[in-house]
Amino acid sequence: MGKIIEEARIVNQERISGQIFRLRLHSPRIAGAARCGQFVMIRLGEGTDPLLRRPFSFSRIYPEDGDFEILYRVIGRGTRLMSRLEPGSASSLIGPLGNGFELPIDRTHPLAFIAGGIGIAPLLELIAQVMSDRGAKGAEKLHLFYGARTAIELLPEDFLRGWGIRVHFATDDGSFGYRGRITKMFEECMAAEDFRPFELYSCGPLAMQYHVAAWALSNDTLAQLSMESIMACGIGACVGCALPAATPGDPESEAFVHVCEDGPIFSAGSIKWNKILVQQTPPPTLLFS
Ligand SMILES: Cc1cc2nc3c(=O)[nH]c(=O)nc-3n(C[C@H](O)[C@H](O)[C@H](O)COP(=O)(O)OP(=O)(O)OC[C@H]3O[C@@H](n4cnc5c(N)ncnc54)[C@H](O)[C@@H]3O)c2cc1C
Ligand code: FES
Repeated sequence: MGKIIEEARIVNQERISGQIFRLRLHSPRIAGAARCGQFVMIRLGEGTDPLLRRPFSFSRIYPEDGDFEILYRVIGRGTRLMSRLEPGSASSLIGPLGNGFELPIDRTHPLAFIAGGIGIAPLLELIAQVMSDRGAKGAEKLHLFYGARTAIELLPEDFLRGWGIRVHFATDDGSFGYRGRITKMFEECMAAEDFRPFELYSCGPLAMQYHVAAWALSNDTLAQLSMESIMACGIGACVGCALPAATPGDPESEAFVHVCEDGPIFSAGSIKWNKILVQQTPPPTLLFS
């Protein structure tokens, strides 16, 4: 299915917590074609301010209603304008874009989902789809590790507990759940060996993804990571979202991938992590956090 340009109608807008909002849009052609892990580019504001569309993941998809939801955090001009969109107003979209998550084939495997901050957004639809595939009994083998800087940046507990999956919360400042990084909590849980995932799915800041990928690679565990990047076009035309790619057998390779077209979902081994971390000064901790 190709990219669709569609004028969406805003169905609902609500503040969930702190600067986190949920937007429901009626966009039947895009909602009908969307897969979890894919995203849309949305025009925010009138005329040329802001000039560029902004990328947002599908946090829930309701093809039967022609709707989907975006869960987002207000961090700048575009998202501030987004938080002012009123029900009944319209916004121009391009989507669905990117590759999306591969859903697990085996319904019995234990799975871990790791979310940092607003990186929880695409994992919500993924967990919903896995749950609908497995039924309520399958919930016990699903663990969500969900961290943020502080409690107000987390979704409320009841938002997630309804599924019956195990949710492990962490905050950097200890205001809710484990005190410290979500990757540290995850690694401690893995060391305790009471749960071992067959596959990992993660979305969050680059530094978090680095630790998830490192753990997956050194523990021979499959991982699908939703990678972030600042995007100008979202359709492979500007190279703005390039990440260095790992090329098997060629450590000196200068190959790169486009997050918008080749991703945003990548396996742990397909990114040249050491090159990203060297390129970023200061180290990458902010995006998606
Ligand atoms: C594939 C993809 C899916 C995304 N899905 C979601 C989502 O579901 N929910 C959500 O809240 N956000 C998501 N983002 C991030 C979102 O696109 C940015 O937060 C948004 O574009 C910021 O726009 P702004 O005009 O408010 O901020 P700006 O005024 O453009 O920037 C404000 C600050 O945010 C930084 N910033 C700009 N772009 C990004 C970016 N892509 N990621 C993080 N920081 C950025 C800027 O460097 C600056 O420091 C996604 C990004 C990508 C690439
Ligand atoms: S955002 Fe332009 S090439 Fe990916």
